[in-house]
Amino acid sequence: MEARVTAHARYTIADIDKRLYGSFLEHLGRAVYTGIYEPGHPTADENGMRRDVLDLVRGLETPVCRYPGGNFVSAYNWEDGIGPKNERPTRLDLAWRTAESNQVGIHEFADWAKAAGTEMMLAVNLGSRGLDDARNFVEYVNHPGGSYWSDLRRKNGQADPWDVKLWCLGNEMDGPWQVGHKTAVEYGHLANETAKALRAFDDSLELVVCGSSHSDMPTYPQWEATVLEETYGQVDYISLHMYFENYEKKTSEFLALPEKLDRYIGTVGGVIDYVKAKKRSKKNVRISFDEWNVWYHERRSDAKRMKEWDWPHAPVLLEDVYNFEDVLQVGCILNTFIRRADVVRIACIAQLVNVIAPIMTAPGGAAWRQTIYFPFQFASKHGRGTALRLDVDCASYDADIAAGISYLDIAGVHDGDAGTLTFFAINRHGEEAMTIDLSVEGFGKARNVEHTLIKHDNLEARNTKDAPETVAPRKVDGATISDSGVEVTVPPYSYSMIRITL
Ligand code: AHR
Repeated sequence: MEARVTAHARYTIADIDKRLYGSFLEHLGRAVYTGIYEPGHPTADENGMRRDVLDLVRGLETPVCRYPGGNFVSAYNWEDGIGPKNERPTRLDLAWRTAESNQVGIHEFADWAKAAGTEMMLAVNLGSRGLDDARNFVEYVNHPGGSYWSDLRRKNGQADPWDVKLWCLGNEMDGPWQVGHKTAVEYGHLANETAKALRAFDDSLELVVCGSSHSDMPTYPQWEATVLEETYGQVDYISLHMYFENYEKKTSEFLALPEKLDRYIGTVGGVIDYVKAKKRSKKNVRISFDEWNVWYHERRSDAKRMKEWDWPHAPVLLEDVYNFEDVLQVGCILNTFIRRADVVRIACIAQLVNVIAPIMTAPGGAAWRQTIYFPFQFASKHGRGTALRLDVDCASYDADIAAGISYLDIAGVHDGDAGTLTFFAINRHGEEAMTIDLSVEGFGKARNVEHTLIKHDNLEARNTKDAPETVAPRKVDGATISDSGVEVTVPPYSYSMIRITL
């Protein structure tokens, strides 16, 4: 199969906000306990944080990490996680029916985030709590001193404020499963009043209001319209979430799902424009896509187990083991965000460690990279710069979700400072190799090209503790410089990163 792609220096989408490659860590299952934190582990630092996990997190270069939830945040008392560890209470976590020891709280997470080289994105509880706790938490985290909460932080060992800019106003408040679920009007009103209070403290905060939990919610997209009508003047981002499933084991249908993601972003972008026009506002609200990933491998059995258990602490939960097919899907999702970089400014892979995550750990043992670690790492490291509006000419197929799904999913990024063009390409054809004629115009001559490939003949191939490199990238000789740019041949069902030095 042949495909023709043209990139032109003048055809750009937007400068990519590096926070498009954000991540997420929730107090859920083994994400925190025996994930990032395991005192007594051979690699644990003086704070009990696993250095082997920190190394893998640093390898992702994720610029921001959302915390502490997720559904967890909607019944969380942040004060339970401060002060002497032996005085912290164990609480029942209503979201996941587990026990929370509170041995990790905001101080421990802040130290960990610093060591991981990532900024904190914090969520306040607008489920079981509200404005008062939100303003206290922000004061604790961001005020230098001389007030009750800031002085308590100082007493607890942190003299300088953490100066966290990015705050989520609750989590998935449209979901009936959420503790303290609300209607759009109720939530919109509460979020607006909370935002006003936080802005009275510091107008430079960046605030994220909850949009829909996914685009199949019965309240979507009216939820976005109502919530934004209540909050438009006070917020900077509307949060969206989406998870991808392949229960039917139909790869062509599964790999077409990013089209649904694209539509979701387009629709919410339209709702933002509608409310902006209605409010006669000059301000732009953008999308924070702060939960996304493949999530289905263990989902049904997890739901069953949860119903039966007796409030365990840090149980195995949502530990999807990803396969090679998921590499292709994650690549397509990231490409969608790059192509929508004008409206999606923040996106967080959900999650980071153990819980539907690119990094897995064994308690007391090894940490390793799941298959999806690699496409995320490549996008995060090399997908920074200006997103390009590519012209793509390739055969397509019809899927249930939409007709005309191109066999080639591709996104391009120009990094002017580094003098590079990077393309992320997924061949969605299962039998045919594809030769891509990649023409680059207006950038100057391609001097060098590198082709990194992720390919496995078995779509079900996985990385495990005992075989952690089963699916891994390798450099290949698939690309050559041509008169107009480069020519590259990619195998069926494969992920490629093509990097051109100009
Ligand atoms: O990431 C797992 C869960 O998915 C989060 O807690 C919740 O926000 C979403 O439903």
